[in-house]
Amino acid sequence: MQHAPSRCCWRLALLRAAAASLLLAPLLLLAPVTPVSGTSFVKACGAQLCVDGKPWYFQGANAYWLIDYVQFDRGSVDIFFDWANKFGLKVIRLWAFNHRMPYQWGGYDETQFRGLDYIVDSAGRHNIRLIVALGNTWTAYRSPQDYMRMAGVDPAGKDLLDFYSSEHVRHFYRDHISAITQRNNTYNARRYKDDPTIMMYDAMNEPRCPGCVDTSSQAQVRGFLAEMTSHLRAVAPSQLVALGTEGYFLNSYEEWNSGAGVRCEGEDWAALAGTSSIDVTVVHAYERQMESVPPKWYQCDFDCYANFLIQYLSVHQRIAAGAKKPLIMEEYGLILPQYTADQRVQLFQLVADNLRWMKSTGGAMAGVMFWNAAVGNVWDDGYNVYLDGPVVKPVPVPAPTPPPQPPSGVTPAGPVPTPAPAPPAPAPPPEPSRAPIVANTETLTDFLRGPQRAACAEAAAKWWLPIWTNSWAYTVDTTALAKRTATYTVLSVLRDTSNALYY
Ligand SMILES: *[C@@H]1O[C@H](CO)[C@@H](O)[C@H](O)[C@H]1NC(C)=O
Repeated sequence: MQHAPSRCCWRLALLRAAAASLLLAPLLLLAPVTPVSGTSFVKACGAQLCVDGKPWYFQGANAYWLIDYVQFDRGSVDIFFDWANKFGLKVIRLWAFNHRMPYQWGGYDETQFRGLDYIVDSAGRHNIRLIVALGNTWTAYRSPQDYMRMAGVDPAGKDLLDFYSSEHVRHFYRDHISAITQRNNTYNARRYKDDPTIMMYDAMNEPRCPGCVDTSSQAQVRGFLAEMTSHLRAVAPSQLVALGTEGYFLNSYEEWNSGAGVRCEGEDWAALAGTSSIDVTVVHAYERQMESVPPKWYQCDFDCYANFLIQYLSVHQRIAAGAKKPLIMEEYGLILPQYTADQRVQLFQLVADNLRWMKSTGGAMAGVMFWNAAVGNVWDDGYNVYLDGPVVKPVPVPAPTPPPQPPSGVTPAGPVPTPAPAPPAPAPPPEPSRAPIVANTETLTDFLRGPQRAACAEAAAKWWLPIWTNSWAYTVDTTALAKRTATYTVLSVLRDTSNALYY
């Protein structure tokens, strides 16, 4: 997910948050928690995550906005982690980069770095672990172009593949990884690499390379990712190493992709899962990743998406187990108002059921993290779940009583108006013979290799349909799911899952 408030809204969000945190403070019940400091690092043990040698399954969330809010209100960070504890969110994910972090090769804004220090220290005090991403494919906060410029490579006329293949960029990025992991936290004098609060690093968030499907460009991308994950493992050997991948398939399992053009993002998930320098495999799953699907090439609706997701997770769980690596669903969520609040509850329940099933069977999916946990008036990108919102579903206001109708058979007084001629029925839209190739439109820039992706997707559409149709199955009874969750809220699902998982 690339969402981040634009600069205009970011400032507004800061003001709102300042007001919100004042309101929140008196509402908190502070439960004593054992700090992470002094406890163990989370380890991979086969295809599971372990703490102190015992399998560990968790629910968690993303909260990228912490790096903004911490700049003006340290208290809001503590308040947020208190709320996270209340709902058993044991792991929080955020960026370890910011607008001026770095601002040049080796140059990090000390104020922004101290903000991250505070978040890490506060998480440790609250017994919450962190996953931090070290870079981003998207433009939020620090883009690949920014990294290229800082590495002395002019991005003009170049693209993402040049980012991955440049020796200068690779050198720069290795140094960036070292700078973060070697940081001495100003709040607890502990190096990040030695702090069990930081459970895992994503060497990069959503490392796509659109259109990079040929052997040579794949070698460049995978070479970059292998180099950065190996470097991470060398400089931070106690912590877990991962990539914030979305889960897209390229050279195998393409029938499980969410559309014909998905393989064109250049992510060969099954191959990456086998990379020796990666400890944990990762998926990010959103309904917006779905292209139109057969048989009629409708946009996949919620029912369709729920069924797709279960199959998508299931195949990733099987591959992860085969590679003897745990799997974390690092991002999922449902945007409102395009979908309903009830559908969001259903999605969360579906994911929670899967997690509980994984725990009971010792499965590879060790944790699930929704996008995006928030409190107070944190800016909402449409995906926010407010932990300080109502846990009990509000009773719907009854519809107003309709005005009395005349008894049947009685003709209303007055002339009967002549009905206006019905407008001609709109012609049904022509049914396309294959998926409209619509990627996220914001990805279709030249730098992000939009034209190369489009060409690749056109080609894939010609053969993808039959293999997808063959593998597709409806296995989720969404009517029963809706009935079962009718009185639930997202927060009640989180609370109940927490009780079932940890006690
Ligand atoms: C971090 O810095 C403090 C203050 O300069 C110092 O006392 C401490 O030893 C440093 N910690 C490490 C792990 O280097």
